[in-house]
Amino acid sequence: MKNSKILIGVLTIALGACSPAKNTSEQPATAKQSTTENSSTMEAGKDYHSFANPDVIRVTHINLDLTADFTKQQLIGSAELQFKRVQPKANELVVDTRGLTIVNVTANGEDIDYTLQQADPDLGAALHISVPDSAQSVTVAYHTSSDSSGAQWLTPAQTAGKQHPFLFTQAQAVHARSFIPLQDSPQVRVTYDATIRTPAELLAVMSAANDPDTERDGVYEFHMPQPIPSYLIALAIGDLQFKAMGKRTGVYAEPALLEAAAAEFEDTESMLEATESTYGPYSWDRYDLLILPPSFPFGGMENPRLSFITPTVIAGDKSLVSLIAHELAHSWSGNTVTNATWRDLWLNEGFTTYLTYRIMEMIYGTDRYNMEAVLGYQDLQADINSLDENDQILAIDLRGRNPDDVFSNIPYEKGALFLREIEQKIGRDNFDQFLLNYFEHFAFKSITTDEFIAYLDKTLLTTYADKLDKARIHQWIFEPGLPENVAVPLSDAFTKVDSARTGWLDGSLKAADIDTQDWTVHQWLYFLNNMPEQLSEAQIVTLDMQFKLTQSKNNEIAHSWLMIAVKNDYQPAFDRLFDYLTTIGRNKLVKPLYRELAKTPEGKAFAKRAFDIAKPGYHPLTVKANQGFVE
Ligand code: BES
Ligand code: ZN
Repeated sequence: MKNSKILIGVLTIALGACSPAKNTSEQPATAKQSTTENSSTMEAGKDYHSFANPDVIRVTHINLDLTADFTKQQLIGSAELQFKRVQPKANELVVDTRGLTIVNVTANGEDIDYTLQQADPDLGAALHISVPDSAQSVTVAYHTSSDSSGAQWLTPAQTAGKQHPFLFTQAQAVHARSFIPLQDSPQVRVTYDATIRTPAELLAVMSAANDPDTERDGVYEFHMPQPIPSYLIALAIGDLQFKAMGKRTGVYAEPALLEAAAAEFEDTESMLEATESTYGPYSWDRYDLLILPPSFPFGGMENPRLSFITPTVIAGDKSLVSLIAHELAHSWSGNTVTNATWRDLWLNEGFTTYLTYRIMEMIYGTDRYNMEAVLGYQDLQADINSLDENDQILAIDLRGRNPDDVFSNIPYEKGALFLREIEQKIGRDNFDQFLLNYFEHFAFKSITTDEFIAYLDKTLLTTYADKLDKARIHQWIFEPGLPENVAVPLSDAFTKVDSARTGWLDGSLKAADIDTQDWTVHQWLYFLNNMPEQLSEAQIVTLDMQFKLTQSKNNEIAHSWLMIAVKNDYQPAFDRLFDYLTTIGRNKLVKPLYRELAKTPEGKAFAKRAFDIAKPGYHPLTVKANQGFVE
């Protein structure tokens, strides 16, 4: 039997040997070293976050056979990688791995040679596989480690029902490789089939065709017929039940949450229909939601056919359902037309954020659209005021950086604002038609920013040459900040909130006299988010007495209020804060609180107490993002 070698040579040589996509002799030996390059040498379309060689051999289909071992907290089994040779004589397949134990690699039933390179801390280890001429596929037998960066194993105590364990994966951006050996680049699209074996009482679901009526027997088969990028492969296992919301839409959740989730998200089917009517047919058959335990590190994740959703948006009043519109919109922008590299993330998130606002307007009306757009714009302004200039660029240079560390509102809200400007310049109907054509033109392709610009050149910049300015479009995409004279979103519904806040702050209006009776959650958020940094103790006590903010059950309002409480050291809210930090793992909600707490020694000590208790239940991404605040 031929054996594997673990390469222990010099890291740069090991990594340099595994030519990432479109490598040239000028390429740096490692993704890390490339930070020293200037942008003129950056290669468009090159994926600096994968070691795979899809330009030589490209994986096109994956057959997974995995057993979820909840005792070991490991996925154990095999991945058959079917490929096509881009270079006819190619004899080496390079795939990404991270923390995987490779048992063996076979082709046509025979062991074949492979080498696992030394691991990079952010990108994992390249697996080089020698491919016999006769082979059309290789099968990698492997298992994950219990601290896989892309999978979270929860004990029964960490679930809603407290009876059964739970597993979920989160692959975007570069974590699919931590549970499947594959070419982990968004420019490689694969179809997949999977057999997932679980304890008999649990249900497995994937980003694939899920049969809501499947028998619960511990063996589940999945089929994903459309080619998808690796970051959209997803698996969850738990005590899940299904409830239909519409003809094509439904929700999977633990029994305790099922009814509330189905009621909260009952407009999903209408959202799906509205999006189709504007941007073209939905390509993915069913659209279901999966409600995760509260440690899910994101608000949502657009896994195809089955968006993964944080339970923190089940507010009881549909106030936070723009998250659903967002994940649904990704079915067009992201899942159908995909960013080719993480530099191009704004093509996914900016288009999706633009679509989100439009869907929200179609379902809930223009007031809601305007309010959400203003709040989004304020988030963007906050980032523009605090981020390095380079991190304010839509087509960001991520060489040598971990995409996890660069998460911000820029690709989302700046991207959306850019598209809204084009919409306003050429007219909404024309822009809708453009988007419809764009989704069709690039369907099931992964594209770069440059390809988008070339398409824009051929289409809108030609048809509306009098209305659009190429230099300005360039500025939007490649320059920090915002171009001059951007149309700022406005909301009438916020005008009265501004005057209430101003009146109250200058003493002309008593808190008790503010007419908050009809305020929506968005108005509350706007009221709180625009308070001055420092309030007097009397002011903050009055706010809390009058509006019971410490008790707010809405997780976004609670977040905004707790930020105020931390900034003003308002101790009566700190029990609630402790509870918040130790029961929610959604990074967007907890990270700003940790960051704020870390600014004073007492705050930091408090943060550390909360973090230490919360840590065993936090997802690896949330741990990594916040650890630094409490050290
Ligand atoms: N695809 C993203 C989540 C993501 C982005 C994960 C980049 C890893 C890397 C998802 O669609 C998303 O944007 N989620 C947001 C939703 C919000 C903007 C409505 C979130 O989780 O907060
Ligand atoms: Zn998104």
